[in-house]
Amino acid sequence: MGTFTFDGLSVHYRDEGAGAGQAVVFVHGFPFRLSMWSGQIPLAVEAGRRAVAPDLPGFGRSDVPAERSAYSIDRYADVVAALISDLGLGPVVLVGLSMGGYIALAVARRHPGVLAALVLADTRADPDTPEGRQARSDQQAKVEEQGEVAPLVDGLLARILSGSSPHHGEAVAKLDPMMRSTAPAGWIGALEAMKTRRDQTDLLPTIAVPTLVVVGESDALVPFDVAEAMAKAIPNARLEVVPDAGHVANLENPDAFNRVLADFLSTLPARP
Ligand code: MLT
Repeated sequence: MGTFTFDGLSVHYRDEGAGAGQAVVFVHGFPFRLSMWSGQIPLAVEAGRRAVAPDLPGFGRSDVPAERSAYSIDRYADVVAALISDLGLGPVVLVGLSMGGYIALAVARRHPGVLAALVLADTRADPDTPEGRQARSDQQAKVEEQGEVAPLVDGLLARILSGSSPHHGEAVAKLDPMMRSTAPAGWIGALEAMKTRRDQTDLLPTIAVPTLVVVGESDALVPFDVAEAMAKAIPNARLEVVPDAGHVANLENPDAFNRVLADFLSTLPARP
């Protein structure tokens, strides 16, 4: 575990392993924290790689800026790039799930030199629709009014998780407390970041690093055809579907997700 400072904010991260392979950096989704990757960090370490995962500002043990204006996908991306540079990780394999994928794409646009490979899990390159933006604004108003996030948790879990996962209970047990303990200002801020995020579809054909696009077969937020179109638009991408999983595929079917991730890592060279 460690902390580093970005623009006056204390950012907490987990840092394990010291292998010779390119480091793997994991970026969590909304409204989670780095512990969502506890099943993948050991896998990366076993694959001979250093594994690093931050709590994004507003989440987990990192500082929580109070103002909405402090949050954007680009700013999260700058935090991730600064962490990579501070730790001297060199070009890394950057893994992002959902909001973490929005951030990974922003890193690819803003800081392409830090990337050796990309894993885009349960995510998309296009921005919110007007209806999607409105729904996020309504949710921000609700959290602001009620001063708590707990009333939103059950509805969100039902939307993102697939009922067919054999690990459904474990996924709920893991995600529910993470979500409930998210600071209201961090929750509102991440909604602000997601609803104002730019369209990254024009970036996809320019991504030059090996890329894995992975999606849960029943992801209600990122349907298969969205993931497939994204993979087709990236020159050096492969697409994998995780069966019996929804939007949080690494927790809903960890065995299948880990197989796909381990296989992808095995195709990547050790650090030169
Ligand atoms: C996430 O899992 O990070 C979010 O659900 C993504 C989103 O709301 O767009």
